[in-house]
Amino acid sequence: MKFFLDTANIAEIEEGVSWGCVDGITTNPTLISKELAGNANFKTLVKKILDIVDGPVSLEVTSLSADGMIEEANRLKKLGNNVVVKIPTTIEGLKALKVLKEQKIETNATLVFSLNQALMVAKAGATYASPFIGRLDDISEDGMNLIEDIREVYDNYGIETKILAASIRHPVHVRDAALIGADVATMPFDVFKKLMNHPKTDEGLKRFLDDWKKIDKKKLMF
Ligand code: G3P
Repeated sequence: MKFFLDTANIAEIEEGVSWGCVDGITTNPTLISKELAGNANFKTLVKKILDIVDGPVSLEVTSLSADGMIEEANRLKKLGNNVVVKIPTTIEGLKALKVLKEQKIETNATLVFSLNQALMVAKAGATYASPFIGRLDDISEDGMNLIEDIREVYDNYGIETKILAASIRHPVHVRDAALIGADVATMPFDVFKKLMNHPKTDEGLKRFLDDWKKIDKKKLMF
């Protein structure tokens, strides 16, 4: 399973990449807008992200028409080879996905909330489909059921579109998406950090180091 960080924050991306567990990045207009305070500009920010990350970096279009999305996608793709273009799950989005596949531009269909939408974006040629788990949980649906359904149906038909579990809010989402077989989980840095938390690890390490301190220092020369 691949882990992507769902952030445009350079410090978080640098830190995550240094752990050796980050396979890519996803962004959206909300995440980008948080990082563009003051004099910062979009191109400089994206170039920095692309320099740090050796893997797919999703950048989202903001046009609503297929022609606009295709034009934006081509401009975004010029920023770096590993750019994956995020396309909204709309009918205009389907038209854009089809053309971008013909142009060999990788895409990530975003805002997927149903199995039928996941099928449609896959048929139109999306490289990734991003079901939003947390936002379904927010409205008292079970986001993880959607991941399960998409996995089953994609497998039934040998569909190659990758399932990118998005809108992940806590480590249990990551664990469950992994058990189901989602291809990718994208998560905020805060959730990524929590994947490593375990009180028994902290307790065990403390005990080892306390016992080590009890040894006569002369016996520790090597
Ligand atoms: O990038 C899409 C995404 O993961 C959104 O997450 O928490 O805003 O629903 P969230």
